[in-house]
Amino acid sequence: MAGRSVALNSRALAPAALLLCSALSLPAADSVIVKPPEGAWLPGAEVQIIARGEAAKLLLDGKPLEVEEPFPGVYSVTAELLPGAHRLRLESPEGVSEISFHSGAVPPDTASEKYADHPPSRIACTHCHSVSRRGRFRFSGGCQSCHPKEPFIRTHSHEPHELASCGMCHDAHGSATAQLLLLPKEQACRQCHN
Ligand code: HEC
Ligand code: HEC
Ligand code: HEC
Ligand code: HEC
Repeated sequence: MAGRSVALNSRALAPAALLLCSALSLPAADSVIVKPPEGAWLPGAEVQIIARGEAAKLLLDGKPLEVEEPFPGVYSVTAELLPGAHRLRLESPEGVSEISFHSGAVPPDTASEKYADHPPSRIACTHCHSVSRRGRFRFSGGCQSCHPKEPFIRTHSHEPHELASCGMCHDAHGSATAQLLLLPKEQACRQCHN
């Protein structure tokens, strides 16, 4: 959770930029490392990296990564890792962001849970994403091909289409928390219910 809050803090400046950009009809000018989260402990020997930003470059432990760009300004790559501490850096004209994470069977000193990929994280990004007619990268659904509606209604008290922004509460790329939750269960529903 600590990692996620760092990511959210770094986006705290975004609203002003977003307002400005929507007024000018430009894409939101910010860049961010989406996966893995800051401080993650990855027990395996590789990491799937996802980031976004215009004209961005990614460096793992100081070395430039050869990334794929499945959508304009959206990057992904799977990199091999030696056990130990790693730093991932995203450089773009909009700024620089950096995270650290840890790999290998031995957990880092900082108490943390194992980060695990959400099983579909290796299927095509286009299963869940598309680009809108205006050229905006977006989440377009696709969860129900694996998660049926009936259990969903029982756990969420809503139809899936009523909570279509799954990313309000879940990290659909992977997580170190139960149920891929981004925030504690007690707070998740309170985003709308007081
Ligand atoms: C199982 C569905 C799923 C798959 C597969 C998936 N994503 Fe996502 N992704 C999501 C969801 C859900 C969100 C959150 C959307 C939101 O909150 O608006 C998201 C968000 C994102 C974001 C924006 C994050 C941010 O903070 O701005 C990026 C970039 C992204 N995904 C890239 C990718 C890439 C690249 C791939 C393929 C390697 C991929 N995704 C595969 C579901 C998926
Ligand atoms: C290609 C199939 C597939 C797709 C598409 C998919 N999932 Fe999953 N999901 C899985 C599998 C497999 C698991 C692991 C289930 C388990 O461990 O019992 C899982 C686990 C989860 C869990 C944790 C449940 C638990 O019991 O721990 C959540 C939450 C979740 N998915 C949300 C989503 C969301 C949100 C989307 C769309 C953005 C999505 N899934 C799309 C296959 C998928
Ligand atoms: C408002 C927050 C919120 C949103 C939005 C949300 N979820 Fe959840 N989800 C939760 C919480 C909280 C749990 C844990 C429920 C529990 O432990 O009882 C959960 C559990 C799950 C689980 C595991 C339990 C089950 O029902 O099988 C899956 C799968 C899941 N969510 C998928 C999704 C998908 C797919 C979406 C988008 C269509 C979504 N969620 C949107 C809060 C949310
Ligand atoms: C995007 C906003 C939103 C989120 C997130 C959300 N709800 Fe709701 N919920 C609503 C709305 C709107 C209603 C309809 C209220 C009404 O009809 O009076 C509602 C109604 C309900 C009801 C019917 C009883 C009532 O209070 O009217 C329950 C139960 C409920 N939600 C549970 C949940 C649970 C559990 C979660 C978390 C998994 C959740 N909601 C997340 C918006 C939301």
